[in-house]
Amino acid sequence: MTRPSAKPVVLIDDGRIIAREWRFVPGAETGWHIHGHDYVIVPLTNGALLLEEPGGGTRSAELRQHAPYTRRAGVEHNVVNAGDADLAFLEVEIIDRPLDAARLATLSRFMNAWNARDIDALMNCMTNDCAFHASGGPEAEGRRYQGASAVRAAYQALFEAYPEAAWTQARHLVVGDRGLSEWRFVGRDRKGTSVEVDGCDLLEFDGELIRLKDSYRKARSG
Ligand code: NI
Repeated sequence: MTRPSAKPVVLIDDGRIIAREWRFVPGAETGWHIHGHDYVIVPLTNGALLLEEPGGGTRSAELRQHAPYTRRAGVEHNVVNAGDADLAFLEVEIIDRPLDAARLATLSRFMNAWNARDIDALMNCMTNDCAFHASGGPEAEGRRYQGASAVRAAYQALFEAYPEAAWTQARHLVVGDRGLSEWRFVGRDRKGTSVEVDGCDLLEFDGELIRLKDSYRKARSG
């Protein structure tokens, strides 16, 4: 089913604030997008939203006219008018941290590359002198891979160890030069054993790119 597109009208764009008015006919969608900035939504009408989220989840949300709410940068979704009337809201983005926004976009691109099993796209998110500390291994850091070619080989080995693998329920955060990506890994190894476990990456940035991916996973037992 093809949905009609909700179209934004830019009302303010002064280098620090972007305000857009979005109007949706019944069934209209924004299309998938990542919020690179903190933002405020001011509903101009009542309405019912369907939010499609990464990993295939959906949520319903009620819009109440003149009842604003805020969200942090990093939100990724497709927004659909689930009601049978037109709805509208004002979206106000605060864009005073452009490097944070670029780094959040890198984390989202990185996660999408994992789910697409696209090694080149993964390495395009990382610096040449990057490192990967795996969640398991003989060292205090897990197992350390240093340099782009070692990291690439480790990622390739991970894909080979898990013919099925998905990183779901992603949430990203950037604080200064560091980042956090939370996820639930759902996969199947070469023996056919299912794995479903929560984990996270602590990340360090150099500019917009990842210099270190330091991975952690829950140890399931019982
Ligand atoms: Ni949005």
